[in-house]
Amino acid sequence: MMEKFELDPDLQEEIRAKVFGDGFMKLVQSVRRGGVNFRISLRPVMIGGEKRFQAEMVDGGNVQVKNLAPGDVPAGLDEILAQKGARDLHLMCGDGDLHVRVTRKGRAHVSRSGKMERKVSVLPHDRVKNLPLEAFDSSALLRVTGIADGSGAIRASMRGKYNQVNEFLRMVAGTVKPADPEAGFVAVDCGCGKAYLTLALYFYLRSAMGLKRVSVIGVDRRGDVIGAARKMAEQLDVSDEVRFIESDLAKVELEKANLVVSLHACDTATDEALAKGVEWKAEYVLSAPCCQHELQSHMSKERNADFAGLLRQSILRERFATF
Ligand SMILES: C[S@@+](CC[C@H](N)C(=O)[O-])C[C@H]1O[C@@H](n2cnc3c(N)ncnc32)[C@H](O)[C@@H]1O
Repeated sequence: MMEKFELDPDLQEEIRAKVFGDGFMKLVQSVRRGGVNFRISLRPVMIGGEKRFQAEMVDGGNVQVKNLAPGDVPAGLDEILAQKGARDLHLMCGDGDLHVRVTRKGRAHVSRSGKMERKVSVLPHDRVKNLPLEAFDSSALLRVTGIADGSGAIRASMRGKYNQVNEFLRMVAGTVKPADPEAGFVAVDCGCGKAYLTLALYFYLRSAMGLKRVSVIGVDRRGDVIGAARKMAEQLDVSDEVRFIESDLAKVELEKANLVVSLHACDTATDEALAKGVEWKAEYVLSAPCCQHELQSHMSKERNADFAGLLRQSILRERFATF
């Protein structure tokens, strides 16, 4: 005797067979509980050349991602199938879709699309490569950092940050050429702020460049942004690989870093990042400077008559200091 809300065992078997079959693209289940939408999705992804299954749980506004090894998927799928309550399940495969709608009374309505011939690919290099953030599966990263909205579209207010991160990763792609992708690789983001670049850098080095043993450290002196960054790393299931240190840059001591980056680290923080790159014996130091207020204060047009034309206007003075 089946319990209320339980899916028919044959239907469950059909779903399991499709998820473990070659044509599996994505499974999404939405449940509405107490006025809050809970959505879980599962799809195959390639991470550093290995096949994984990415489970994304959205509970109201909270997003949590887990990258499951294939062996952990059966238990995860059983949990999804065992969920109770009114829900919608949508299974997408290369040869067609399956919809299951479970009503509030617990009745399941099943519908199937016609036969399809969709190309199924989970290889990152099949994706558009013009933008570094499109060279790997960045959808969870963009959603969790708030660069994209719940539907995956880049928010208008975050377009500038999206472009900055892409440009920075382009620089990384053109510069960082580790001899051995299996060797440990440590990157430090100085003045990481809300960790847009820190987290993107981790996924880019790991998933797009295929470095197997990457760890990334974000440093910022503001406790609030470090707290938020740690939470995002947890949500993305990478808190062992991406760590955050709340500290003034000058006080951070490390034996060695391979790559030191800073993106708009304000005032003298860019100079401190460069100094740390030398101290930590980094092979690569990449920095997009910021306002350089301290330097600007020494750049009066009276004391630098030769550059008076450049120093008169604040915007020109700022750009001049940056260079
Ligand atoms: C303009 S924000 C840029 C944040 C981030 N890199 C980005 O592009 O989104 C600069 C960050 O540098 C941090 N910062 C400035 N000086 C610092 C210092 N000396 N040590 C650590 N963090 C510093 C600030 O707290 C701030 O979060």
